[in-house]
Amino acid sequence: MKIALSDAEATTRLGQVIAPLLAAGDSVLLYGPLGMGKSTLARGLIRALTRPDEDVPSPTFTLVQFYDSAPPVAHFDLYRLTRPEEAFEIGLDEALDEGCAVIEWPERLGDDPGSFLGPDRLIIEISQQGEGRLATVSGVGAWEARLKELNV
Ligand SMILES: Nc1ncnc2c1ncn2[C@@H]1O[C@H](COP(=O)(O)OP(=O)(O)OP(=O)(O)O)[C@@H](O)[C@H]1O
Ligand SMILES: [Mg+2]
Repeated sequence: MKIALSDAEATTRLGQVIAPLLAAGDSVLLYGPLGMGKSTLARGLIRALTRPDEDVPSPTFTLVQFYDSAPPVAHFDLYRLTRPEEAFEIGLDEALDEGCAVIEWPERLGDDPGSFLGPDRLIIEISQQGEGRLATVSGVGAWEARLKELNV
């Protein structure tokens, strides 16, 4: 599924419509080069689960930020991960036991990020399209069917 995101607000909105479909154990994988809008989408999603004015800093240095929402959400930025197994040390397993995970730079988990995650995964690849962006969206596990419910 391809979704045109003409501006940053559209990227935020995509995060917002994903939020109500999320369940504990789900992972949202955000692929795309530097500055493509991964954090923008994550912020829209997290604010929809918490509060519209929730502070959502980019976890560039902390690698992860946890939010006490329903379901709980953990925001990972794995750009600075040194090896895939380090993801467990920063709480990836626990995050998925209790809630869902939104992951920037999932390629840092190696060739098969799925082996670190649960079976239900939403995969979003953001690329440049003119002045805006193009999101290529696919689903694995429960997300395969749930994609049809994405109200964009
Ligand atoms: N659809 C869009 N069209 C144009 N600009 C956008 C769009 N979505 C987001 N942006 C802008 O792109 C810039 C970078 O966004 P953001 O920080 O979310 O990227 P990122 O992918 O998280 O970057 P990084 O790889 O450094 O973590 C921001 O200025 C944001 O407003
Ligand atoms: Mg980012």
